[in-house]
Amino acid sequence: MDYDITVIGAGPGGYVAAIAAAQRQKRVCIIERGKEGGVCLNEGCIPTKTLIKTVNLYDELKKADDFGIKGIDTSNISIDLSKLQARKESVVSRLRGGVSGLLKGNGVTIINGSAAFKDRNTVIVDEKEITSEYFIIATGSSAYMPPFIAVDGDSNVITSREALDILQIPKAIGIIGGGVIGIEFAYIFSKLGAEVFVFEMMDQILPMLDKEVSEMAKKRLEQAGIEFFCGAKVTAIKDNHIFFEHEGNSLNKSADCVLMAVGRTPDTDGLNAEAIGLELNNGAIKTSETMQTNIQNIYAVGDVNGVSMLAHTASHEGIIAVKNICGQAGVMDYSRVPSCIYIEPEIACIGLTEEQASKTCDIKVGRFPLAGNGKALVEGETEGLAKVILDSSTGEILGAHLYGIRATDMISEISTAMAAEATGDEIINAIHPHPTVSEIIPEAFMDALGRAIHWM
Ligand code: NAI
Repeated sequence: MDYDITVIGAGPGGYVAAIAAAQRQKRVCIIERGKEGGVCLNEGCIPTKTLIKTVNLYDELKKADDFGIKGIDTSNISIDLSKLQARKESVVSRLRGGVSGLLKGNGVTIINGSAAFKDRNTVIVDEKEITSEYFIIATGSSAYMPPFIAVDGDSNVITSREALDILQIPKAIGIIGGGVIGIEFAYIFSKLGAEVFVFEMMDQILPMLDKEVSEMAKKRLEQAGIEFFCGAKVTAIKDNHIFFEHEGNSLNKSADCVLMAVGRTPDTDGLNAEAIGLELNNGAIKTSETMQTNIQNIYAVGDVNGVSMLAHTASHEGIIAVKNICGQAGVMDYSRVPSCIYIEPEIACIGLTEEQASKTCDIKVGRFPLAGNGKALVEGETEGLAKVILDSSTGEILGAHLYGIRATDMISEISTAMAAEATGDEIINAIHPHPTVSEIIPEAFMDALGRAIHWM
């Protein structure tokens, strides 16, 4: 065999797996047809957050006077999209260089090209055969273009990939799908000054979130001018008109650009997966909790297995796959994967929603509003809350839902606590620094147990 482990795809699932395998003294190669870092780094998480940083700063500058800063003519500030694009590129290329450096520094062989399986121990890349004892497939996903939405005529339909490269702000944009991608771009485009309509088939935006949090976020986004059509099923797009069914009516809205954000589909094209007997489920490669596929020496991590399409899930799955290949124990626990949405205020959650938890056992729910937090008041952003859910009898943390500034950084505390199987009491007993926004977390647990100090 040429290698012990061959990884296909150098996104956050693949490159992390390759490095973890090399650290365990394996002979590792990674095959990538695009750029190192995958969708997350090149056309997903990192570039989106770079755009969000700029629109947030733009928003803050408009409030300069409230903070006692004189001399900024807020009627005269604007965003230079080409400069923003250049900054985005420089952030992305710097991180991409970091990933390449880490792979090379760990002795991983990088091969550029598309891999197709010849048999269970061989892939072909540009007519060259590579043999390997194990494979980890980490080929990611791409934007789903649903066949049930007919696109016709002269319509400017884009995906998140094109939306990231904008050099001109559309006057009006229609966004199909009120999931994470739809909502982050609705936020970006509305802050850039576009008229934004969001069409969501379910009765709430961000349907996977705790209802209380999703409703608060929707209200805030509406105040920023975004128009939502919930319970609206888009059926067709023709000449930049979006046709949809809403409350029994057939309606349409026109926009000069339409963003399709109705999910992502696993990328298995060209892998020749089925020919070697790999089992798929709705286009995703089926995996066990150790990330093994139905073929003993082939593992699959990240979006391609379709379980939890998040970069941090992919990286974690990559390490689990390597551990199992190397004879160490490790299983993936999807009940403790945090999820973050980078609008402002931010949203971050982990575990069960109140509705889900109440179906499993007796629960205690605690809340603490940002309005009761000193640091939030200092920052001038008091919207939101921390909401926590505990098992009444054991005190086990079942879920946490944060809506407010710094939420995406603060959720790690709950993630660590859940991984350590800590109880709400143990979080309360850990001293939290003052003044910080993180004080809302122990306060929410104290509220669940009937002893909140700063909230009545
Ligand atoms: P999604 O599955 O989160 O949301 C798609 C939404 O489209 C759903 O709410 C669905 O009900 C709606 N929909 C489907 N068909 C429709 C129709 N015909 N008319 C109206 N609405 C319709 O998918 P999304 O937002 O595209 O994201 C894809 C993946 O990428 C997700 O797994 C997401 O978690 C991940 N992601 C995560 C980010 C983060 O963590 N910050 C950022 C971007 C993506």
